[in-house]
Amino acid sequence: MKSEEGQVHGLDSARLPKHVAVIMDGNGRWAKKRWLNRVKGHEKGSQTVRTIVQSCRKLQIPFLTLYAFSTENWARPRSEVSTLMHLLKQFLVSERKEMMEKGICLNVLGQLEKLPEDVQAKARETMADTCNNTQMTLNLALSYGSRQEITDAVHALAKKVATGELAPQDINEQMISNHLYTAGMPDPDLVIRTSGEFRLSNFLLWQSAYAEIFITPTLWPDFTQAEFIDILTHYQKRDRRFGNVECNMPSDGLPH
Ligand code: FPP
Repeated sequence: MKSEEGQVHGLDSARLPKHVAVIMDGNGRWAKKRWLNRVKGHEKGSQTVRTIVQSCRKLQIPFLTLYAFSTENWARPRSEVSTLMHLLKQFLVSERKEMMEKGICLNVLGQLEKLPEDVQAKARETMADTCNNTQMTLNLALSYGSRQEITDAVHALAKKVATGELAPQDINEQMISNHLYTAGMPDPDLVIRTSGEFRLSNFLLWQSAYAEIFITPTLWPDFTQAEFIDILTHYQKRDRRFGNVECNMPSDGLPH
């Protein structure tokens, strides 16, 4: 896999994203195209989850966030919700060993308390078991909604103001970031959405302010490591200006 110094799969390892976030979309359409039940799409999608976690680990991308279940997904038919919950639990059970061996720390972003008790218990157990792993953090966004996350942060800050712990004028962007579910993590540099939809669907709205966004028509179950590498190759060619005029501002602050 390694070719030259600092190169993996032809990528410049120094310029890889620190945090990749993925909206995994298209499981249902993948199944429909094959006259299969949607469950089959989610099952195949779970395999892709394993592939992409392994790819990030191999590439030493330290943070990966996967949108696995949104607050809006509760409105799906009960049978589909239970399939997804079952697959999640299965993933937590089957991947525990791999996460321990590869130094992956599991984290849940979202309303964990809303999940079925057995899934909650397995998630809490896996988070506790893996919390000292330092090679990579895998965030599963579960019962996650970005507006809910921001609302929770506002509540927490308002409480601090009410108790006199915090003055309203001292609230700043960093403080808000520190009260999100992703507190302490870098913002995503790259957001990928599969299945060709041009929406963020209530995913990491605050954190993605400067993220590079890639939309691929590929349905999530068909997404491969090769396509991921291809997206990373394109990512490395993008000029990230963060609202400035040049990618890397020199120390005198003047554009050259
Ligand atoms: C979107 O496809 C996908 C989801 C709502 C769930 C994602 C879940 C998985 C990939 C499998 C389980 C997750 C883990 C972490 C093991 P869709 O059903 O909305 O597809 P459609 O838009 O084509 O109908």
